[in-house]
Amino acid sequence: MKISVKTAAPDKLRTGALALTVFDDGKLGRQASRIDRLMAGAIARLMKRGDFTAKEGSTAILYPEAGISAERVVLVGLGKRADLSAERVRLAAGKAAVAARAAGARDLIIAPDGISLAAEELGQALAEGAVLGLYRFLRYKTADENGRKKELGRITVVPDQAAQAAKVLRGVRTGEVIAMSAAMARDLVSAPPADMTPSHIAGIARSLGRKHRLRVQVLDRQKMRRLGMGGLLGVASGSVQPPAFIIVEYRGGGRRPWVALVGKTITFDSGGISIKPGEGMDKMKDDMSGGAAVLGAIGNAAALRLPLNIVALLPATENMPSGSAYKPGDILRTMSGQTIEILNTDAEGRLILADALAYACRYKPAAIVDIATLTGACRIALGQEAAGMLGNNENLKRQVRAAGERSGERVWEMPLWDGYCDQIKSDIADMKNTGGRDGGLITAACLLSKFVQKFPWVHLDIAATAWTDKDRPYTPKGATGFGCRLLTQFLRDYANERGAEGKKGRT
Ligand code: BES
Ligand code: MN
Ligand code: ZN
Repeated sequence: MKISVKTAAPDKLRTGALALTVFDDGKLGRQASRIDRLMAGAIARLMKRGDFTAKEGSTAILYPEAGISAERVVLVGLGKRADLSAERVRLAAGKAAVAARAAGARDLIIAPDGISLAAEELGQALAEGAVLGLYRFLRYKTADENGRKKELGRITVVPDQAAQAAKVLRGVRTGEVIAMSAAMARDLVSAPPADMTPSHIAGIARSLGRKHRLRVQVLDRQKMRRLGMGGLLGVASGSVQPPAFIIVEYRGGGRRPWVALVGKTITFDSGGISIKPGEGMDKMKDDMSGGAAVLGAIGNAAALRLPLNIVALLPATENMPSGSAYKPGDILRTMSGQTIEILNTDAEGRLILADALAYACRYKPAAIVDIATLTGACRIALGQEAAGMLGNNENLKRQVRAAGERSGERVWEMPLWDGYCDQIKSDIADMKNTGGRDGGLITAACLLSKFVQKFPWVHLDIAATAWTDKDRPYTPKGATGFGCRLLTQFLRDYANERGAEGKKGRT
């Protein structure tokens, strides 16, 4: 997909589809009114009859007979002018691109009108919405029933203010980078677990490292043993696939302190000996969504040359039942020295994260953010509209929340009170790995909190947001890549907030 920015009268450009944005007050913008005039009032007529209301996310397609060079005109609604946001623009761009492709267009011109965002933000939102909306996972399809021929090959953005074109283009480039990483995260999650093994993910981290000059280390079982990573080794003990502890470092921040990103990377979660019911178990390939998001985010940080030092940690393993698997009743000694009594081998994510968080502390990080498909309880609590957020530092929580609002990948805070943490007290070990059904989202975070020492830390539970069963405007059903854009936004804002010292890269 190639996206460019042009300043031209959109009616003169030959294209399969010309998309116009419309607010629901019926007042057409500069570009749309010009097209409407050339089409003898066809757009105004459509709106007057109520066939197109410009409600957010609504679309309509017109086939101009003459007057303009486009084969199709795609109207896309932005809803109320006062409610405009980058998220609305992403939704509209996704809708327009998918509608154009479904109609058979091979290329698309987007002519935004009167959108009161900063020009860069507009460009970024358009690129993200279009690229992510058009995303499909076709790698395992041999026949092209979805029609490889029916891909949209090219998108051109024509801003309504020519003077803004350079800034819009900058935003488009940023949006492309970020969207491609989120698409990579979706690819990793969508791939079958037999292919997306810990070793395979290690290979992907290595090639990402070559592309962006990142330092990549992969620890094998022996090195994990030396470090005392009993949590990760315990979970991995039932699996034929060797586990991997993947460390990716990006050094763009000179002498600044580290930011640590930790992503749960269970390449398949059968539940282990406490095996899950068969129905829906196939979806447990998405249990590495945290790791995928973290990889995408550190790749973005490098591509955008953020002035930060970032380490991404991916504890990667399957969770399988077998004769060698860890069992309920076992007690694991983690890297921090703390012991965990196992009540349920399906609460495995927190065990591998315990070791990864302890490893993160070796960097003396100024911030740790972990992201994990950790609990079914998160879905019960928040559904698919937000990730669960818990942490030990108000400022860091504020920054992550703000990044969530800006990226459209929202988070909602849950309390990490002592009373909840009492639920995981064990009679014979330092803690147990489940705290019962009540407050399951919170008690999981309680366990994690014991492994971050005093470092500022936020935990994100993406169990419900990593996957969607229904198509959304720029998130087709399947893996969402959730967290990649959120973490990237967090890192960009974080780099900005940290001030101008050594600030050379774009943020
Ligand atoms: N990976 C699952 C959580 C999950 C559930 C992710 C549904 C996506 C969709 C996690 O490892 C798990 O199994 N959690 C258990 C914990 C319980 C045994 C305390 C859960 O939530 O049921
Ligand atoms: Mn599990
Ligand atoms: Zn899991």
